[in-house]
Amino acid sequence: MNTPEASSRLASPRINPSIAHAAAALGSGPLTEPSLRAHIFPLFSRILQRPGIYLANHSLGRPLDQMSADVQAALDAWYRDMDDAWGPWLDELHTFRNNIASLLGVSRADAVVPKSSAGQGLRAVLNALPASTPRILTTRGEFDSIDFILKTYHHRRRADVTWIEPHTTSDHPPRFHTDDLIAALTREHFDLLVVSPVFYATGQILEDLPRLIAAAHAKNTLVLLDCYHAAGVIPLSLESLNTDFAIGGSYKYTRGGPGACWLMIHPRHLTPERDNTNHEPPFRTLDTGWFAKRDTFKFERPATPLLAPGGDAWMEATPAILPLYQAKSGLELTLALGVERLRAYSLEQLAFLEHALHQRNVPTRRGGASPEGSGAYVLIPHADTSAFCNRLKSHNVIADARLGHARFAPDILTTRDELTRAAAIIAECLH
Ligand SMILES: Cc1ncc(COP(=O)(O)O)c(C=O)c1O
Repeated sequence: MNTPEASSRLASPRINPSIAHAAAALGSGPLTEPSLRAHIFPLFSRILQRPGIYLANHSLGRPLDQMSADVQAALDAWYRDMDDAWGPWLDELHTFRNNIASLLGVSRADAVVPKSSAGQGLRAVLNALPASTPRILTTRGEFDSIDFILKTYHHRRRADVTWIEPHTTSDHPPRFHTDDLIAALTREHFDLLVVSPVFYATGQILEDLPRLIAAAHAKNTLVLLDCYHAAGVIPLSLESLNTDFAIGGSYKYTRGGPGACWLMIHPRHLTPERDNTNHEPPFRTLDTGWFAKRDTFKFERPATPLLAPGGDAWMEATPAILPLYQAKSGLELTLALGVERLRAYSLEQLAFLEHALHQRNVPTRRGGASPEGSGAYVLIPHADTSAFCNRLKSHNVIADARLGHARFAPDILTTRDELTRAAAIIAECLH
């Protein structure tokens, strides 16, 4: 086995030629349905055979045809080359780290560490905090996995967690206010703030992140952003935003299936130099294993663990390889199309869907105060969302629901015709 040095330098993403060619054929202007139909739809011939109108793209993204070819290539290398398959497998590990770093706006590939879940990324950070019972500030709006982990640490007294409540009124979904978080940070000391820039249940985009992060840092509080509903949806520049840590994964907006998740550690925490806080960088996590060793394949066993430099010190035991291949094509397509264009197109589609629903007297909501302040889906409030979604499913419209709202997310494969038909079916199922 030989391992490529996980280089810290970010390379331009390497894109599969068929994806690069299709993206280039779109030109550099805004995405349009005719151009997507002509050039991008053919990359999805397999999933587009599926009947029905799929509006749960915020839940499980639709894979490219290339996805199964990529996974097959990883398996072929194993059958063909046995131990030598580690060469291409570890190259792919580096490519994944590099491409996620590009997606997040981070300048070092090794700032990204692969994880099998976002929750695993959170635990690696919790297990790196120097305090034995770190004080954590979070919100009631974090996804179940994150909430459950924080509650478990809290109940086992491995963390002392404070939860910020949302503001609720009858005319919009529960909303979180940045000022409430800042007030808590100012009142008391916390070691870590855990918060989503886009909330999973409502799609609310948390306002004024730079001010929140500055307020946290002014009080020596580190910031971990759960970017699961943000990465691939809104343009991110996590390094210039000064986010200390971020977690996320590939099975929604980047079409990568489960298991291909990540933890981002801000590059300033990866160098031996001190930053301007009082923390002791570089952080060391207890979640470790032989891929974090200074020289994994030398098999040396000094009494004191010697860690690899930079972000490689955050690696763990033998990494899962197939999820990297599963995530490859969707990530490449996202990077080739560009998140800014994807976001502009998503806002157009959501406005179109909302208009079609309003014409049929279906009330809609957004998580934030405006479409621009909301993520990739429209909400419809309902007293019995699971019955509503089941009724929709029986009419071949696929959506899902959280906290009293059904969620509807078109993607680049959704046509205006589908949105118009979906609006009519939704109205029929609602009234
Ligand atoms: C905001 C958010 N975080 C995390 C996750 C997934 O967490 P995990 O990978 O720990 O299962 C999801 C999944 O829906 C999510 O929406």
